[in-house]
Amino acid sequence: MRLLVLGGAGYIGSHFVKKAIEVGHQVVVIDNLINGHIEAVDSSAIFVKGDILDKNLLESVMKKHEIDACVHFAAFSLVGESMSVPNKYFYNNVTGTLSLLEAMEKCGVRKIVFSSSAAVYGSHKEMPITEEYQHIPTNPYGETKLQMEKMMHWADKAYGMKYVSLRYFNVAGASLDGSIGEDHNPETHLIPIVLQVPLNKRPFITIFGNDYDTIDGTCIRDYIHIDDLVDAHLRALQYLVTKNVSNIFNLGTEKGYSNLEIVEVARKLTKHPIPIKIGERRPGDPDKLVASFKKAYTILGWKPTKGIEEIISSAWGFHKTHPEGFGGKK
Ligand code: UFG
Repeated sequence: MRLLVLGGAGYIGSHFVKKAIEVGHQVVVIDNLINGHIEAVDSSAIFVKGDILDKNLLESVMKKHEIDACVHFAAFSLVGESMSVPNKYFYNNVTGTLSLLEAMEKCGVRKIVFSSSAAVYGSHKEMPITEEYQHIPTNPYGETKLQMEKMMHWADKAYGMKYVSLRYFNVAGASLDGSIGEDHNPETHLIPIVLQVPLNKRPFITIFGNDYDTIDGTCIRDYIHIDDLVDAHLRALQYLVTKNVSNIFNLGTEKGYSNLEIVEVARKLTKHPIPIKIGERRPGDPDKLVASFKKAYTILGWKPTKGIEEIISSAWGFHKTHPEGFGGKK
């Protein structure tokens, strides 16, 4: 297929682009490079520097390259930041998606795979979370993802725009060949921050809160390897082509790890003591997020293949060889 990948230079987008090209898709990437890295984009992709808010650009690229489907990763995605600057999130994520949907409608592109989030669910007591759980986001980031999903729902009703929304739980790890990985500036995600300690970039890691209602008092998350996540996107595209119906799937592993357990696995794999300090809770953090992936398994035939050790060791492989991320690469 001829795919337009919005946000294809970011962490998740760049891993998708690499794999999509490997399996034979033709890929055009649009990315504004605010968070993305040109070095992360596979050299076989056509790269266009631009913003999802620029509807004219989107239309001209869709027409020029006769795009069959869009894969939409372009969004701001930091839970903590969204609590302090919500408008930045609503403007970029929601207005950006509106611009994309309008361009798609105008150009007759009627298939989209969308990067949604576990953050749409908010806090729930019973785990694992299925797609039927109520949506009560605890932060503006999750609220924007929910609104973006709703826009696609109504675009389907009105224009027959078929979408698959993939609700990611905590994506981590790196490409197994070590060529690309996670590089955010500033970094806010747990696993890359934990690994900064053995890289001597910080003396300890601060764990945000140890008074949550969990086994050891620290938050529990469900970590999914980036390659497993990418595989689900390829299956979602196939599903859109063969079934031509919209759907929503959770992507997680049904296994939760507390923040302290993550540090413990990293200690074992890096053979470094990784000191911790306990800090304040981070606003907007739900205590537990663990996915049921039953629906993705039943309908897409998808299941996770990599566990927490492979996730952290692949991330470690990338960070050891790219201690300054892409910026430091000569
Ligand atoms: N954490 C720390 N110390 C740190 C960084 C993180 O204790 O220095 C904790 C957080 O408080 C949280 C856990 O580690 O309890 C995981 O935090 P991340 O920032 O790595 O991930 P989040 O769970 O906040 O968010 C991620 C994605 C979101 C997505 C969400 C869904 O960034 O896009 O997963 O679960 F919505």
